[in-house]
Amino acid sequence: MGKAFKVAVLPGDGIGPEVMAEALKVLDAVEKRYDVTFERTHANVGGAGIDQEGKALPETTVNICKASDAILFGSVGGPKWETLPPDEQPERGALLPLRKIFGLYANLRPAIIFPSLTAASSLKEEVIAGGFDILVIRELTGGIYFSQPKGIEGAGRERVGVDTMRYSVPEIERIAHVAFQAAQKRGKKVCSIDKANVLSTSVLWREIVIGVAKQYPDVELSHMYVDNAAMQLVKWPKQFDVILCENMFGDILSDEAAMLTGSLGMLPSASLAEGTFGMYEPSGGSAPDIAGQGIANPIAQILSAGMMLRYSFGMIEAADAIDNAVAKVLDQGYRTRDIYQESAGLKLVNTKEIGDAIIANL
Ligand code: NAI
Ligand code: MG
Repeated sequence: MGKAFKVAVLPGDGIGPEVMAEALKVLDAVEKRYDVTFERTHANVGGAGIDQEGKALPETTVNICKASDAILFGSVGGPKWETLPPDEQPERGALLPLRKIFGLYANLRPAIIFPSLTAASSLKEEVIAGGFDILVIRELTGGIYFSQPKGIEGAGRERVGVDTMRYSVPEIERIAHVAFQAAQKRGKKVCSIDKANVLSTSVLWREIVIGVAKQYPDVELSHMYVDNAAMQLVKWPKQFDVILCENMFGDILSDEAAMLTGSLGMLPSASLAEGTFGMYEPSGGSAPDIAGQGIANPIAQILSAGMMLRYSFGMIEAADAIDNAVAKVLDQGYRTRDIYQESAGLKLVNTKEIGDAIIANL
């Protein structure tokens, strides 16, 4: 008997169900090649949750997720639900509660430039020749976005806006472990981002990260101030392997790194809890402008499924196979519209066709 994993499948809205269909086809193909079963339970989320069950994150969906080993999430939102109160809207009403309920404290966002896609980047050809592969690891549940006190105090011109940045030793330790363990499975380098010349949280951050690094002698640790990191990312991205950040620095740097790669439709993400549970989703949204046309790029969703195999199920070989199949299909010239450029040898294909091509290369 092979292994069996339970997967909560939450396609969501817009292009979510279209790209999810391709990721599920890839999981079918993995089941055929490896001794594994993915027991999938579909559930409503976002606008689909509101329309079907009256809430962006229905109880039934939460229970299905709790009974699963991982969540494969599509994307949520769209014009239809934009007039609802903010807390009831698809994104806020579903994503933030999911992070909280499942303690998803580590956000992993790879910024990958595939060698055959360098033309899509905003960077100069000589800077990115051969592509690059950076993994930004962002602390997701602490720091200045969540620490108390926060708010606006006083009245009129006497008002003062207050935010607080706090990090405890255990919070820093657990995210540092995620970074070093991820680096062990890739390029064996961690660059820890801080502002230790100004911020006390950063002084503690650096001390704790140095301590955790001693448990990972095979990984090389470096430190960089966040302002310098913002420059180095555009100057010479290939110097980075794993970038470790607190919440706000990671929010900003992961968007910067992502945009170096060209299309949102290419970028997967993982949000991990303590243990092996995680939620996996594309970095982009529900793309209402192209929803229903069958032309969305499913690669971000497919690579997200690959991350699920890598980080929640320990299936490194199958995850590598998915990454390699995507690279091969791009080398063969297959392009959805978001990454297509007029040129000899490129084949403009739709969502389903590029999904089929990836499976053929697995
Ligand atoms: P978006 O990411 O949906 O779209 C931005 C642009 O990127 C659009 O032109 C879209 O066509 C394109 N794009 C995104 N993913 C693509 C793909 N896989 N293939 C080809 N093109 C792709 O962001 P936008 O327009 O700001 O938001 C649209 C809706 O999505 C909103 O309701 C927003 O709240 C929601 N959203 C949901 C997220 C989530 O579920 N995690 C994240 C971001 C936005
Ligand atoms: Mg952001």
